[in-house]
Amino acid sequence: MSHRMISDVIAKPDAALEMTLRPSLFSDFTGQPKVKERLEITVEAARQRNEALDHILLSGPPGLGKTTLANILAKAMGGNLKSTSGPTIEKAADLAGLLTNLEEGDVLFIDEIHRLQKTIEEYLYPAMEDFKLDIIIDQGPNARSVRLNLPRFTLIGATTRSGLLSAPLLTRFPVRERLDYYDAQQLTKIVVRSAHLLNIEIEEAGAREIARRSRGTPRICNNLLRRVRDYAQVKHDGRVTAGIADRALAILEIDENGLDEMDKRILEAIIVKFGGGPVGVNSLAVAVGEEPDTLEEVYEPYLIMEGYLKRTPQGRVATELSYKKLGLKSAAGNQSSLL
Ligand SMILES: Nc1ncnc2c1ncn2[C@@H]1O[C@H](COP(=O)(O)OP(=O)(O)OP(=O)(O)O)[C@@H](O)[C@H]1O
Ligand SMILES: [Mg+2]
Repeated sequence: MSHRMISDVIAKPDAALEMTLRPSLFSDFTGQPKVKERLEITVEAARQRNEALDHILLSGPPGLGKTTLANILAKAMGGNLKSTSGPTIEKAADLAGLLTNLEEGDVLFIDEIHRLQKTIEEYLYPAMEDFKLDIIIDQGPNARSVRLNLPRFTLIGATTRSGLLSAPLLTRFPVRERLDYYDAQQLTKIVVRSAHLLNIEIEEAGAREIARRSRGTPRICNNLLRRVRDYAQVKHDGRVTAGIADRALAILEIDENGLDEMDKRILEAIIVKFGGGPVGVNSLAVAVGEEPDTLEEVYEPYLIMEGYLKRTPQGRVATELSYKKLGLKSAAGNQSSLL
C-alpha cells in the first residue's frame, strides 16, 4: 500500500531550487507581518548603533520560513551566515571550530537547536553571553582550561519544538519569534511569485487553488506548484488554471481542505481504533505507522489549528469536524439526533 503524504511534499527540494525561490530580502518575504516588523526594527536598531544583532530564536512547524528568515537577517546586517545543526555538533571541539571561525557581525545559524547535546549547550552559554569560550587543552595531568575571546556574533537558533529547549538556553535568546501558518491569501502571493521565478504560466484562480490546499505552508505550496506544473505540461498546454490545479492535486490525493492520506489515517485511527480518544501520541503513532515526533511536529499542529483535533492532558481527541470529514457519526452526534 503506497500513500502520498505530507512527508513527501514537505521534503526539502534541491539546493539550487531553494536558492531560486527563497526570498533574500524582507521586502520579498510574504506574511508573518508582526514577526517581520519586529525583526526589521531589531535589525535597524542594531545597525544604527553599529552593534551585532541580538541572538534570535525562531520556532514553528517545518517549511514556514525559519531558515529563510535567518538568511534575510544575516544579509540585512551585512554579515556572513555560517550554517550548522544541533545533531551535527558532536563534540565541544566542533563548536569551538565554528565559533572561532566567525568574524565580527557574522551569524551562526543552528538549525534543530533543540537537538543540541547538553554538554555542548553549556559551552554555548558563555559564548552567547560574554563572547568567551572556555576550552580544555591537552588531556590527563596536563589538561588546562583556556579562555578565548570571540568576535561579537549573532546566534540564530531554529526549532520546530521550542518546548524541548532547556530553560537556560531559552533565556539566553533576547529575541524569540514564533512563525505561524500562512493564510490562503499570503500563500497565493507566494505561489504567484514562485510561478513567475520558475516561468510557469498561472492564473490567479489556479494559484489560489494550490494555496488553499497547502496546509498553510510555503514549502508545500512551492512543491505542489511544481507537481501541478508537470500535470499542466503533460496533460494540457502548460497553463495552470483552477481546474487543472484541482485535477493535479486530486491525483496527488490532496483533498479539498489540503488533508492527505496520512492526515485521514490519523483521524480515522483516533475515531475507529480509539473510540474518538483521548489517545496518547505513542499509541497513535504505532497505530498509523509513523514516528511520534513526526506526528507532533508535522501533522498535529495543522490538524489542531484547523479544528480536527484537540490536545487534552489525557491525550488527543477527535472533534466533530473529524467525524464529518470521514463521514462518520460521533457518539455526541448520535445522541443529539435521538433528542
Ligand atoms: N514568507 C515567505 N515568503 C516566500 N517564500 C517563503 C516564505 N517562507 C518560506 N518560503 C519558501 O518556503 C521554503 C521553505 O522555507 P524554510 O526553508 O525557510 O522553512 P523552515 O522553517 O526553515 O523549515 P524547516 O523547519 O523544515 O527547516 C523556502 O525555500 C522558501 O522558498
Ligand atoms: Mg529550515
